[in-house]
Amino acid sequence: MTLRSLIAGTGGYLPDTVLDNDALAERYGLDTSDAWIQERTGIRQRHLAAPGQMASDLGAFAAREALEQAGIDAGAVDGIIVATATPDAVFPSTAARLQAKLGITQGFAFDVAAACTGFVYALSVADAMIRAGQARCVLVVGAEVFSRLMDWTDRGTCVLFGDGAGAVLLRAAEAAEAGDRGVLSCHLHADGRHGDILQVEGTPGLLRMAGRDVFRHAVSKLAAVVDEALAANNLSTSDVAWLVPHQANLRIIDAMGRKLGLPAERVVVAVDRHANTSAASIPLALAEAARDGRINRGDLVLMEAIGGGLTWGAALARF
Ligand code: COA
Repeated sequence: MTLRSLIAGTGGYLPDTVLDNDALAERYGLDTSDAWIQERTGIRQRHLAAPGQMASDLGAFAAREALEQAGIDAGAVDGIIVATATPDAVFPSTAARLQAKLGITQGFAFDVAAACTGFVYALSVADAMIRAGQARCVLVVGAEVFSRLMDWTDRGTCVLFGDGAGAVLLRAAEAAEAGDRGVLSCHLHADGRHGDILQVEGTPGLLRMAGRDVFRHAVSKLAAVVDEALAANNLSTSDVAWLVPHQANLRIIDAMGRKLGLPAERVVVAVDRHANTSAASIPLALAEAARDGRINRGDLVLMEAIGGGLTWGAALARF
């Protein structure tokens, strides 16, 4: 029996507080401008979690929406995988906390740490478990409170990130039902030699980044992993209905769209409103585009991300 993982539902959540670039600069006394931030990154605003609001709190909203959209009861979930670099605690895992918040008492729960690539990694693990017959219904959540990692005196990083959560519900389907739908393949990479260009340092841990180096790696590594994903499935860019990239920087997103020859209308962009929500950014963008009717059943979606580690990866899924 050949099993496939169908994307049965998606969900997203952004915390209530929204700061545009000017408000952020004013709140933290930053020597920056809306024009500089928009020109270099495309970011206009970001959402920030309330004090005490944890990754599992944001994740719970997103997960409930994914379950509701799928029409699947929480009692049917076999496991939860949370991708996060900002866990509620060292342990219990954010996934276990989320499980409790959802009132789920069965199945497994664990976190995956791959920074901004976390969602692609978590999707890959969940897909492999479903294909192996180890689970039939898995919640894959990206949930981040990156505002807790910011050095608010460092204008080179603190303007780039935001808080949020996204979720997808994967369910097993046999080949006859799935047809050509479902997660087609995931492609994961890491190169720890470049760990120091994007890292959390010190106590309390604050994010440090060599922005230009990250940019350089992003453009070349994402281009390569996207080619790898398409080639593995004998597909070409003309088959791709939607590029749903990690939302770090509009310039990187545009470069990928151009590389693939995709018009801007087929690239899902949320970075302008969300900033970089790390592991939450892809599932948040997926949820938005599914909610507003852009992504439809049968659409081939290409996801790609790069983040601290360095880690990077891509996934292809047909909705
Ligand atoms: N406002 C105004 N000036 C700023 C600034 C800000 N928010 N942040 C940095 N600057 C200044 C720097 O201090 C520097 O000034 P100097 O020339 O007087 O030293 C100047 O702008 C250029 O800095 P640099 O870091 O070289 O800018 P850049 O063109 O590389 O843009 C990033 C910076 C971060 C926007 C860009 O490197 C980038 O997007 N990198 C990728 C980041 C990323 O995607 N990370 C997440 C991956 S998951």
